[in-house]
Amino acid sequence: MAVIEINGGVRLSGEAVIHGAKNSALPMLAACAAVQGCCRLENCPALTDVNAAVGILRYIGCRTEQCGTAVCTDASELSRFDIPEHLMREMRSSISFLGAVLARFGRAEISLPGGCELGARPVDIHLSALEKMGAAVQERHGIISCRCNGRMKGAAITLSFPSVGATENIMTAAATAEGTTIINNAAREPEITDLGNFLTCCGARISGCGSSTIIIDGVERLHGCTYTIMPDRIEAATYMAAAAITGGKVLLRQVVPEHIQPVTSVLEKMGCRIHCTESGLLVDAPRRLRPAGTVRTMPYPGFPTDAQAIIMAVTCVAEGTSVFVENIFDSRFKHVGELCRLGARITTEGRAAVVEGAERLTGASVTATDLRGAAALAVAGLVAEGTTTLSGLNHLDRGYENLEEGLAALGASVIRR
Ligand code: EPZ
Repeated sequence: MAVIEINGGVRLSGEAVIHGAKNSALPMLAACAAVQGCCRLENCPALTDVNAAVGILRYIGCRTEQCGTAVCTDASELSRFDIPEHLMREMRSSISFLGAVLARFGRAEISLPGGCELGARPVDIHLSALEKMGAAVQERHGIISCRCNGRMKGAAITLSFPSVGATENIMTAAATAEGTTIINNAAREPEITDLGNFLTCCGARISGCGSSTIIIDGVERLHGCTYTIMPDRIEAATYMAAAAITGGKVLLRQVVPEHIQPVTSVLEKMGCRIHCTESGLLVDAPRRLRPAGTVRTMPYPGFPTDAQAIIMAVTCVAEGTSVFVENIFDSRFKHVGELCRLGARITTEGRAAVVEGAERLTGASVTATDLRGAAALAVAGLVAEGTTTLSGLNHLDRGYENLEEGLAALGASVIRR
């Protein structure tokens, strides 16, 4: 079993180049199934979740190849509308294929995503929206079966929660539906806008992405295109956290500063100086950090839930108390126990976690519990005295392309064994 070994205590310095956004690439790859033509996605990160999405595309008959940092798909000839459990289980967000396959075939059968490390992952918002667009939905034996006679129908849909995945599924299904679809209380994450731009490149007619109301006028069919995926704001947050916790000075290239503003604000409150320069985002951290105050995760443009564990790791060595309130997922504190093994002083109570900043952390063997928890433990290991051994790298590799190499390039003493 591979592990990452980190010897803490190095102040990071230098430059990191941020890869393409995982949470843009995955819904875009799913949406390729709705495109009758060839798509070339540039700046696609090399991740196990991307490989899983490519595996699903190939299974349903989409010709796909990964060439360098691009993924090319040709979904002109799709042959299947079912996604078997073993493929669904490999990737949490394979629910994002539902809208595309249903729009293309009029049928879709996928196994329920089931629970994951973040708690239950219900899909009720996805399903009720697709039913409003004319799909008949059945859930039996862990399989979701959807069927609609002819084309999906445009509809006015109000989401009970601004679900990112549900917004993406509806956009993709509505792109070739008959008539207009209005999504109220839509998710506003940058990945939504990225997906909207990709679908527009394929001939879709979409407006309002990034706001709470998205309007999609259905077209007959989507054609292929070449599209460059935006930078990954959560990978950027991870490198910002690494610079902050080590008192380092790091320049991040290929970052969209406004995408990560909520994290920038917290790190500035903790004493980091963060500047946008023409060559990237410069993070200059103090030797001792102030606490973060209270950090509440919220839908965009609020503080991103995906950065919660990562910034919590930074507060473990701040001079004072920080509080985190996790409002998005039911169970997203699984990394707390592992951080405490490194000497962090954290207590949780329901949706709240209280972090008493410690003088120092000490290296230990720790196990990742989920993707962002893995990143948080790596960040904490950068400052823990002695050696931290991180296992459970399957979680890390879902969302980071060679994180250890990126950190080593900034001077960290880190190696994958
Ligand atoms: C996307 O997940 C991201 N994944 C997540 O990133 C991210 O944490 C999340 O959005 C929130 O920003 C991808 O984009 C692949 P949601 P998604 O639907 O779409 C509840 C990472 O680390 N909900 O906005 O699944 C749900 O249980 C991953 O990169 C319902 O109740 O998130 C959760 O509590 C983790 N019913 C909340 O809404 C539904 O039908 C937000 O979920 C759908 C969601």
